[in-house]
Amino acid sequence: MIKKICCIGAGYVGGPTCSVIALKCPDICVTVVDKSRDRIAQWNSDKLPIYEPGLDEVVSQCRGKNLFFSTDIETAIQEADLIFISVNTPTKTFGNGKGRAADLKYVESAARMIAEIATNDKIVVEKSTVPVRAAESIMNILRANNKPGVSYQILSNPEFLAEGTAVQDLLCADRILIGGEDTLEGQAAIEELCRVYEHWIPRENIITTNTWSSELSKLAANAFLAQRISSINALSAICEKTGADVSEVARAVGLDSRIGSKFLQASVGFGGSCFQKDLLNLVYLCECLKLPEVGRYWQGVIDMNEYQKSRFSAQVISSLFNTVTDKHISLLGFAFKKNTGDTRESPAIHVAQTLLDEGAILHIYDPKVEEAQIMEDLSPLGLSDLKTRINIYHDAYTATRNTHAIVVCTEWDEFMELDYKKIFSEMTKPAYIFDGRKILDHDNLQRIGFNVQTIGKKLTRAAISRVWGSQTQV
Ligand code: NAD
Ligand code: UDX
Repeated sequence: MIKKICCIGAGYVGGPTCSVIALKCPDICVTVVDKSRDRIAQWNSDKLPIYEPGLDEVVSQCRGKNLFFSTDIETAIQEADLIFISVNTPTKTFGNGKGRAADLKYVESAARMIAEIATNDKIVVEKSTVPVRAAESIMNILRANNKPGVSYQILSNPEFLAEGTAVQDLLCADRILIGGEDTLEGQAAIEELCRVYEHWIPRENIITTNTWSSELSKLAANAFLAQRISSINALSAICEKTGADVSEVARAVGLDSRIGSKFLQASVGFGGSCFQKDLLNLVYLCECLKLPEVGRYWQGVIDMNEYQKSRFSAQVISSLFNTVTDKHISLLGFAFKKNTGDTRESPAIHVAQTLLDEGAILHIYDPKVEEAQIMEDLSPLGLSDLKTRINIYHDAYTATRNTHAIVVCTEWDEFMELDYKKIFSEMTKPAYIFDGRKILDHDNLQRIGFNVQTIGKKLTRAAISRVWGSQTQV
């Protein structure tokens, strides 16, 4: 029976996942450890290091009872029956596989720590997203450093939560996937982990596979999801040139029950720490397996996403009379999606960089992203006058005042409820809105007097005058 769990890595996955395990398993003591003192201090404070709806409540219910955040990695490993490895697995930035392969140095260092510290049997669970057969490397490290009387079982238990809905996703997971060795000991370890999840997930939603299927299924799930977005974004480009409306196309296509309606929202492009990284990881795997055609297929999903981000940024510039030099442009939203403060691979970074490159002055507002994070994300541009060309605001009204254009980069609900009449009256004319998330009421904005552009639908003067006759101001 699992009595003590240790999770190495107190990030976007380790923190929420273990908080929910603690909430649902009062009989298990869960300790989340991290090498970052700052992060652990934040987990132990009133302001958690990540913003997730519902997470504060879960943490405050369990912290200090059966949920602990600590930098004492050694004790937590020593005492645990089961250890989750939930460290980051970023794309390699150097050496072999640079720009594509997953960098497994953090996973390896976690495995080495376990090997060094453990003096009794452990179930080690790969929670991080890893290339297929990564469990083999972990096993090699653990078994090569085996102490007498210590045995290990390695399981793969990838996480499918999405940021912004992490708590809900964890509470009502579509499925829990557990991969392990097809041996008596392997099956027993799988059973132990099943029992943890069975505290709140119905048994029929917990599926077990061999280790490699589990590892590959995680990469496959993210690749499929990203592929749907790239598919609808590819169609959005056709819509803009033909008069079709991508929302209508998505609805018509998604109503086919074989296709389904989710993840067909055309956008400025997908962001986040997972899709691009895991696709690149899959492409690299294909190359290593000498499957170049398969690799090219998945690379196409990434290429389409790059195209979409560039296409949208170029559309902003060309609409603003082909020059944005010294123009004031407000960016509404900087996070990669709503309900998170995470900016990793956010399409807003691409848009901001392109506009800055062209000489624009940016006014940025995001409800959850800290100013320091925005400056850090944009500093790789190396602009000497960056500080004077980026202005960060704490509300949308001051951010948009005296600007030539608004670019919506994140679909925050509050952007739908703004008083756009007031905003219009305080902008430089002609005033433009570029809705990269398709969340605004475009007819209403045009009525107010905005020049409106969005993804996957050409908003023409003709279309407006059909609705509003001679009243149109566009
Ligand atoms: P993260 O960067 O937010 O957190 C990782 C944490 O691990 C960091 O706090 C880091 O300090 C810590 N760490 C690294 N090496 C360590 C070590 N040796 N000892 C102690 N702590 C160490 O990353 P994340 O977003 O939580 O992602 C973790 C993994 O989960 C990745 O493999 C990712 O692909 C996968 N994943 C992420 C998401 C997501 O939505 N973010 C969803 C599913 C899966
Ligand atoms: C994703 C997976 O959904 C999750 O299962 C996995 O565990 C981690 O990676 P996440 O990146 O947190 O989760 O968010 P997700 O909701 O998938 O959105 C990713 C990006 O795609 C965001 O930038 C989002 O705005 C964009 N997106 C999503 C679209 O552009 N259109 C859509 O229809 C859906």
